[in-house]
This record gives sequence, structure tokens and C-alpha cells, in this order.
Amino acid sequence: MNPIQGKRILLGVTGSIACYKAADLASKLTQAGAQVDTILTKAATQFITPLTFQAVTGRRAYTDGDLWGHDAHVLHIGLAHQADLLVIAPATANTLAQLAQGSADSLLNLTALAATCPRLLAPAMDGGMYTHPATQANLQLLAERGARIVGPEEGHLASGLVARGRMTEPLAILGHIRQLFAQSGALRGRRVVVTAGGTREPLDPVRFLSNHSSGKQGYAVAQAALDLGAEVVLITTTTALPTPSGAQPVLVNTAAEMLDAVQQACQAAEVLIMAAAVADFRPAQVATQKIKKQTGAPTIELTPNPDILATLAQQRPLHDRPLVVVGFAAETENLATNAQVKLQKKGLDFIVANDVSAPDAGFAVDTNRVTLLGADGTVEILPLLSKTEVAEQILQRVVKLLNNATAKPKLP
Ligand code: C5P
Repeated sequence: MNPIQGKRILLGVTGSIACYKAADLASKLTQAGAQVDTILTKAATQFITPLTFQAVTGRRAYTDGDLWGHDAHVLHIGLAHQADLLVIAPATANTLAQLAQGSADSLLNLTALAATCPRLLAPAMDGGMYTHPATQANLQLLAERGARIVGPEEGHLASGLVARGRMTEPLAILGHIRQLFAQSGALRGRRVVVTAGGTREPLDPVRFLSNHSSGKQGYAVAQAALDLGAEVVLITTTTALPTPSGAQPVLVNTAAEMLDAVQQACQAAEVLIMAAAVADFRPAQVATQKIKKQTGAPTIELTPNPDILATLAQQRPLHDRPLVVVGFAAETENLATNAQVKLQKKGLDFIVANDVSAPDAGFAVDTNRVTLLGADGTVEILPLLSKTEVAEQILQRVVKLLNNATAKPKLP
């Protein structure tokens, strides 16, 4: 389901010190399954060689030297027409000016003129050059003509300045490219709310009760929804994982905060996927000052947390809830029986049950072994999969349910 898989991407590389990051981008795109053809401008070859790109993409990298006398004679037309996307990263002020003008004096400029595919530009230049009215006007014109402009970011520049001008990091550009290809996915125009991570229930200003949830499965679910073109709200307790590009993150700590965030986000959502490990209990009292060891081992009284899914099921009539609600059941024994009870009690469309006592499933690891139990009585035992693959399976099922739900008239 990775939307970059099999796509033909034309990577334009222009003369900036950020060229070294372009090699990383070419490598990441190739690893994501794209066929990457690279065109370097003359200035780019001062910073990096075509060989670098050939080595990471396994395909030819072109320079102006290929413009004349190439087998096909009209190399730029061939490259332009085959491409699903033209990415220029880094895009210098000079290249932006040439693109805005429609210059046709280099292989890259010619190809850009001939290309009809979407284009993504990642500017990189010194701060003053970026803020110059000429560059700003060029960027505005290119954006008006449909180019997607990514960055630049604020940070340390080659000149020693700290200003806006740094090329966006390759991983983030990859995320934008992924989003661009996902736009026509099965969840286009749908809002999906995903929760991830373990809640933190404070004991005092420095301590909390929590669990081993890393958030990895929830983040994979968010990415899989984005890959299908969904608008994703990611309600998370963790800052340790990078936010998938395009997701709207909402950082929370406690179950109570998560409940508020879920209720708010679900007002306009078609799908809720609760992958978070929500604490069932919290300390009844939160000490205002750090608990001192001199006063001896404290007795901590716990009080139940609200069950977010059950609250949602009670508060909102069936036709007013997200059309598809998915829960998770992390169990260490009686997996199927416990999950079945939760499925019904929490009013879910299906539940993802996993045995977290297995070393290759559950917390922190990158693999998971889950069973999907549906409200319709279906039981689907999935083999050991990566968390990404598990997320894709979950989303496939969500798409089917959503299609069925929207095909049916809403309840009165
Ligand atoms: O009851 P248990 O915690 O095992 O249920 C797991 C499912 O219920 C998960 O989807 C979890 O996100 C959700 N949950 C919840 N509110 C709680 C506890 C769990 O929504 N207080």
C-alpha cells in the first residue's frame, strides 16, 4: 500500500551544499520502491557526482553532457513524459528563477518545461536570498502554477547564519511525496482519528504510572491511513517517534486528556482507531509536591479512569458516532475470550487482539501477531507481520466497513 511503490520519479539536483542530502533522498525514494532518474545541473556537479546517484538508485544519472547526441536525441522529452513526479531538491534561487521564467537552457530546465506531471520543489539557499522579493515572487508564481513547495526550514546555514533557508530533511520530503501520491487513495476526504502510546497518570510533579506501549503500532496505523489519502488526527502520548508527514498531532498525557481530545476530534471523523494503551486506573490523589522518601513508602490509592471507547459508545447514539470504531486488546491470557468481551462492551466494529506476552508481538518490537475479531462474528488470525503490514490489514478492513456503512442509509 506504500503509494511510492513503482512510481517513476525524476529528481532534479541543483547547485547547493544541500546536494549531499539529495543523495540521501534518492536512496530513500529507491528503498521505498520508486524508480529514480536523476538530472544534475552543471553547478550541482561541482558539489556531487552523477556516480553517487547512480550508485544509490541503480539507474543512470544525467547531466547537460547528455543533452546532445543521446540515443533518443530528445532525452528531456522522454524523461519528462515518463515521470509520475518531478522533484527538484535542492532547488536554488537561480533554478527557481529559471523555472519561473520558463528557461530552456539546461537538461533540467528543458525537462521541467516538457513535464506535465506534478512537481515538488525543495528550496535551499542563504536566508537573505530566500527572503528577497524576487525569490518570493518566483516561489509564489511557481506555487500558483501548481508546484508544491516544501520548506525551506529555519536553522544553521552554510554561511554561518541561522535563518530560513535550509533544505527540508530528506525524510520529511519523502513524507510529502508519499502524501502527494496518496491523494487519490480510498480514504480521500475521510477523517481518521488514531490514538497511540501509553497514557501517563501523575503521582506527583515528577512521577507517573504508565505502561510499556511505544506507540509504534498506532503510528503505523496513522501512516497507513495517510497512505490511503485520509486526513489523520494522531492523538499521542509520545514524542519519541516522528510524526508521520501530513498527520495532525495532538499531544496528551493522561486518559482524561485523551478522552477530551478523542471526543473533540471525533465530532467530524468517520473512523476512530484506538491503538493507545490507556491506563485503567490513576492515582486517586496527585501530590502537589514531590513525595519524599523520608516519609516512608507511600500507599497509592487508585481510582478507575473513564473508558474512552465505552464513554463514546454511551454518549453518542449509533448514527452520531464515527462510522467505524476499532479497538485493540492487549492480553497476556485468554486472548480470544477477553477480546470478544471488549468488542461487545465497547461497541466496536472490530477489535485487534494481540498476545503481548509473546516476544515477537506487542510492545516496542517492530512485529506483531494479531487476530481481528469482527462485530459480524468473523475471526481472522494474521501471521507474524511487521507493524506496518498489520496497520495495512486493519486499514483494508476499515475501508470495506466504511464503504458498507456509507452505502447503507443512516439510522433515523
Ligand atoms: O479494556 P482494555 O484496556 O483492554 O481495552 C483496550 C481497548 O480499549 C483499546 O482500544 C484502548 O485504547 C481502549 N481503552 C479505552 N479507554 C480506557 C482503556 C482502554 O478506550 N480507559
